[in-house]
Amino acid sequence: MKKIKVGLMGLGTVGGGVWDVLRMNRDEIIRNCGYEIKIEKILVKEGFKPKVSGVSKDKLTHNFDDIVENDEIEIVIELIGGIEPAREYILRAIKAGKHVVTANKALLAQHGVELSKAAYEAGVRLSYEASVAGGVPIINPLKESLGANKIKKIMGILNGTTNYILTKMTNENVDFHTVLKEAQDMGYAEADPTADVEGFDAAHKLTILSTLAFGTPVKFKDVHREGITKINPLDIEYARELGYVIKLLGIAKEIDGELELRVHPTFIPKNHPLAAVNDSFNAVFVKGNAVGDLMFYGRGAGDLPTASAVISDVMDIIKKRSLKPNLKNGFSYEPTKKAKPMGEIVNEYYIRFMVKDIPGVLGKIATLFGEYNVSLSSVIQKGRSERGVPLVFITHEARESDIQKALQEVNSIDEVIEIGNIIRVENGQERGEQ
Ligand code: HSE
Repeated sequence: MKKIKVGLMGLGTVGGGVWDVLRMNRDEIIRNCGYEIKIEKILVKEGFKPKVSGVSKDKLTHNFDDIVENDEIEIVIELIGGIEPAREYILRAIKAGKHVVTANKALLAQHGVELSKAAYEAGVRLSYEASVAGGVPIINPLKESLGANKIKKIMGILNGTTNYILTKMTNENVDFHTVLKEAQDMGYAEADPTADVEGFDAAHKLTILSTLAFGTPVKFKDVHREGITKINPLDIEYARELGYVIKLLGIAKEIDGELELRVHPTFIPKNHPLAAVNDSFNAVFVKGNAVGDLMFYGRGAGDLPTASAVISDVMDIIKKRSLKPNLKNGFSYEPTKKAKPMGEIVNEYYIRFMVKDIPGVLGKIATLFGEYNVSLSSVIQKGRSERGVPLVFITHEARESDIQKALQEVNSIDEVIEIGNIIRVENGQERGEQ
């Protein structure tokens, strides 16, 4: 049997998964790519003890030179995460003429163009299926199966931890901090949950997807980002009452040649396909101008699902490595589309206030909104407490900058105790969408 030798960096959860899947599915892998994939060397930290079985000691090294200087190794898999030394090691592997597979979304979102240029110049491939939505195939479909489409919109549940938390909050009527603590105790959420709950992880993934989908180098800093920490059980209750579900969505749209790029909690209609994506599952909804609507759904993390994506990249490289020209690995180098400033986006909004229960307050707020061209489509006011009454609006489409200005003024009305939350609403059809 012909063998391809691979160097692996990292033998943690995903690295261990790659080791196990290569053994578990050896026959299928050979059948589908014509080669046996052999892990020749594994880079681990000093003192590291493998959790997977069957790894002989002589495969382990603490020195990257043992991988990059080994001429028999044709493909390097990077699973150590973080920016450095992952970036340096990948560049060295590329310069040594090795193809690279990585699952590193933070690195690709911030240095993807640099890595792609290096690979392009060296004539090697840089593959990253596992970087977005774990085991769900989305990178290669965008590059290949959907390559004959103009992509108009992507909406994704790109982070499993936050989807798990929001699902629990919705089903069990508990607050954010209680669910987060429980998820941490069970090992579902990281001890430092910032990257997940503040939306950084989803924004990294959206940067990668939009770069690929829209054919322009999208910058991570151009993705507007809000996390889920401010979602209150009251918001979930009102969403339900109004026929919506709250999800942390990554949204990327091309409208009139400009890009909207944002990650934030979103009201979506309860009958939208993404509303049914629960627990730690991921899903990506894509609209192509030829194919129409598509949805990709599955496990966005975990050892075996992510390994499935990593190994698919290795197999793809094996099959195509002799093909030229190298097509920049899905990246583009010259900007062709501008990111729209957040103030210019047009959306519907859910706005929850706490106000004093005095006649005329509702009228005052509605009048102020009207002065900024914000018209209201639904109003709910119910319940009473000594603190005041919650007052909830859904607006018609309005510009974000008008909403923000109106809210500043509303906040200065004496009877308004606080602005509880503002959440954007996605109802389906877009302006300018064909
Ligand atoms: N922490 C991520 C999530 C998985 O919760 O989805 C890795 O990207």
